[in-house]
Amino acid sequence: MDEKALLKAAEEAALNSYSPYSRFRVGAAILLEDGSIITGTNVENRSFGLTNCAERSALFTAISSGRKDFAALAVACPDAREPVSPCGACRQALSEFTSGDFPVYYKGSADKVVRTTMGELLPADSLHDLKTREP
Ligand code: THU
Repeated sequence: MDEKALLKAAEEAALNSYSPYSRFRVGAAILLEDGSIITGTNVENRSFGLTNCAERSALFTAISSGRKDFAALAVACPDAREPVSPCGACRQALSEFTSGDFPVYYKGSADKVVRTTMGELLPADSLHDLKTREP
């Protein structure tokens, strides 16, 4: 599975976006260790505060499907020309299940792709050790 295919899956997921308020479609695709992909999109609500981002939609779908073997994440924003990075809430949620070297790719409608890692997106994660504790 290459980065291009993962970004394409994210772009396809963005087409399912429910975003009548922002008119800003976002798609996310999580690559699993076996090469399969789980996608998600942003789902808005007229109360605004209930909006769920594409990244968390994909993350929660993956966890709900019993999958935690994440290999990479791609995010696509077809309504922005430049790449849009995951928001702070999504970075925190993703960090629960990923390590600092976890690859993240994101792009807008133009060809430019940003390649980064969770460690760069969420540095100085002082709660990191808590997630390794037994429940
Ligand atoms: N959004 C995402 O889904 N992911 C991001 O990384 C940035 C923002 C959504 C939330 C909202 O539906 C719309 O984009 C505008 O903020």
